[in-house]
Amino acid sequence: MSVTNQHREPDRILSQKNLTDRLELLRQVLQEVVIKHGKQAREIATKYRWIHPHQASRYIELFSKEEFEKMLRAKPLQTIRANTILIDRNRLKQRLERKGLVLSDYKPTPYGLVVEQSPKPIGALHEYMLGLYTIQGPASMLAVIALDPSKASRIIDMCAGAGIKTTQIAQHNTKAPIVALDINKRKLLALKNNLSRLHVRNVLALYMDAREATRLGKFDSILLDAPCSGEGLIIYPQKSRPRTVADILTRVKLQIELLDTALDIAQKGAEIVYATCSMSFEENEYVIDTLLRVRRDFELEDIGIPGNKGITSYASLRTDPSLSKCKRLYPHIHGTEGFTICKLRKT
Ligand SMILES: C[S@@+](CC[C@H](N)C(=O)[O-])C[C@H]1O[C@@H](n2cnc3c(N)ncnc32)[C@H](O)[C@@H]1O
Repeated sequence: MSVTNQHREPDRILSQKNLTDRLELLRQVLQEVVIKHGKQAREIATKYRWIHPHQASRYIELFSKEEFEKMLRAKPLQTIRANTILIDRNRLKQRLERKGLVLSDYKPTPYGLVVEQSPKPIGALHEYMLGLYTIQGPASMLAVIALDPSKASRIIDMCAGAGIKTTQIAQHNTKAPIVALDINKRKLLALKNNLSRLHVRNVLALYMDAREATRLGKFDSILLDAPCSGEGLIIYPQKSRPRTVADILTRVKLQIELLDTALDIAQKGAEIVYATCSMSFEENEYVIDTLLRVRRDFELEDIGIPGNKGITSYASLRTDPSLSKCKRLYPHIHGTEGFTICKLRKT
């Protein structure tokens, strides 16, 4: 099912039929995967009680049972992000080391620090309250590094949540307006608190369904940190996660609709980062491939961050080869939370 331009449908708008067909195809393939790995998946779900059998099956298909278990035993790095609006990484490091923390630079970024040891919880320090740093996972930081919004003139963070990445974007660009959207009012309140704690002044936060963002005009830098299964945190028992394949399909539908809107609001040449804290093929490469088949107005870009290549083949599904340009971050290989980051350019 590899797609070339000649095979794409002439209509570049995603129709309801395209969407329904793609979701039905995915449903069938995932059911096959669940049946294929049923026995091994039940063994995993018995041993690691917070993991649902469908998740175990889907990740056994992605890795293998052995590698999936290796991932479940991994211990990702704990990282913080120096707020370079107020202090640089070295000065923050010296200040925190005087309080007994043991830190090292998180090299793929100019502001990340790995916390090797801390005498107190890192969210309870005076420097945190002062906004000199924020707590952020290592892979999460890489999504904004991939976007590199430093030269953008109009930026949007479509699913801003509490604004961890919005405030990181502001460190790259303190001048351009950043529009931050979310449909959860409590998250927006947390976002406003973070903007004030971190001294960020160029963000306009709006309570809005990002699928309606066409009302806001065009942007040249777009972050879509999409709502997802959260399976990038699957190694942590306390996190609640989708219970069924149907739950995954509901998320994939929303992700496709959100990315379709992201492409609509992108001006020619705009850069879009699509990221999820999930390692699943279906919430990442499959979402982008669905739109590549019906729209001719974007292409995948190379990204200079660590990570494994994107996946172009999963069970009986195949994607466009350019999806290999995505980056996949894994706890047992990269020492991060599980994450997938893809960069698109509107043509
Ligand atoms: C992965 S979280 C975002 C995390 C955030 N980017 C950060 O780094 O702090 C996804 C967010 O999408 C929001 N969301 C879900 N559906 C949405 C929609 N239709 N429009 C806008 N936001 C949505 C959720 O409320 C959630 O806060």
